[in-house]
Amino acid sequence: MFARSATRSLNNARQFSSSAARQTKVAVLGAGGGIGQPLSLLLKQNRLVTSLNLYDIRGAPGVAADVSHIDTPSEVNGYPADQLDQALEGVKVVVIPAGVPRKPGMTRDDLFNTNASIVRDLASAVARVSPEAHLLIISNPVNSTVPIVSEVFKKAGVYDPRRIFGITTLDVVRASRFLSGITGTDPKDCNVPVVGGHSGATIVPLLSHVAHGKGLKGESYEKLVHRIQFGGDEVVKAKDGAGSATLSMAYAGAKFTDALLRGLSGEKGVITPTFVKSPLYADKGIEYFSSLVELGVNGVEKINPVGPLSAEEEKLLEACLPDLKKNIEKGKAFVA
Ligand SMILES: NC(=O)c1ccc[n+]([C@@H]2O[C@H](COP(=O)([O-])OP(=O)(O)OC[C@H]3O[C@@H](n4cnc5c(N)ncnc54)[C@H](O)[C@@H]3O)[C@@H](O)[C@H]2O)c1
Repeated sequence: MFARSATRSLNNARQFSSSAARQTKVAVLGAGGGIGQPLSLLLKQNRLVTSLNLYDIRGAPGVAADVSHIDTPSEVNGYPADQLDQALEGVKVVVIPAGVPRKPGMTRDDLFNTNASIVRDLASAVARVSPEAHLLIISNPVNSTVPIVSEVFKKAGVYDPRRIFGITTLDVVRASRFLSGITGTDPKDCNVPVVGGHSGATIVPLLSHVAHGKGLKGESYEKLVHRIQFGGDEVVKAKDGAGSATLSMAYAGAKFTDALLRGLSGEKGVITPTFVKSPLYADKGIEYFSSLVELGVNGVEKINPVGPLSAEEEKLLEACLPDLKKNIEKGKAFVA
């Protein structure tokens, strides 16, 4: 009798704690855009998301009405331009793809003037309304927008570096797909860690860390590295003025959000590259860096070192660090 009731209350407790843990409200800021719409669609399909708040200065209620008909249990709400605070109430995760994308001939840094203030203002609202939320930054230039968000949170007195992430997953997705294309293998067996930052020469793929990448040498190695670093340009060029990667980025954004949600819900061993406040190159004055990061109930649990590098990768890293430092300083100076 005792045993039976004890088992029942244990089961109740388990049910309660797992359903409490599963109450996860996610907001997308910029949900009406090229990335925001497919990202919202993918997040609606994620069972770890119980509530989805879609915000944009244009079109979010329409996207929300549409996405809300998908047959998964999560609730979807859309918020127009003047309801940012309402969109942020009680959220655990905020994904930010708001801003302008590149046109042919532009670098990600060319977006700074427009996107820096958009990201700063959205981050201020999050710091005020949901200071404990985890922020996932897609808006470019990520190397600068992550420092901007961090400075905003510091100023508001609510900074926790474990909760601010730059999404670099698209570089990882591209590296995996491009390598598998060359070697005739499955992308799932080509999980290339990509470290550094998220633009041009700051993107450092560690091909020597995967069995299928190790053997590449000479021109085929160089071509692949260049394609991973500048793969975004292929999309910008092909879209011919209509923007940059949206669908593959939505996929990458949803993939990273899922990894974070799994970590937050207590799953162990969730490890993926992301651009975070990092001690790895702090002695060189570089405060933020992407490397393999273990995600857990508090967000960033553990930052892994980059590990052994080939001679070519040493050179790539050397080229990355000065650019990255400049991008980070530009972001910090914007909020100072
Ligand atoms: N991290 C990455 O790997 C990666 C990859 C591709 C694109 N991006 C970046 O993502 C951003 C969005 O790209 P996109 O193709 O979706 O652009 P888009 O122009 O199609 O959509 C951007 C959306 O942001 C909205 N917006 C603008 N200001 C806003 C504000 N203050 N609050 C809320 N919403 C606002 C716009 O109304 C629009 O709907 C760009 O900065 C782009 O460079 C990042």
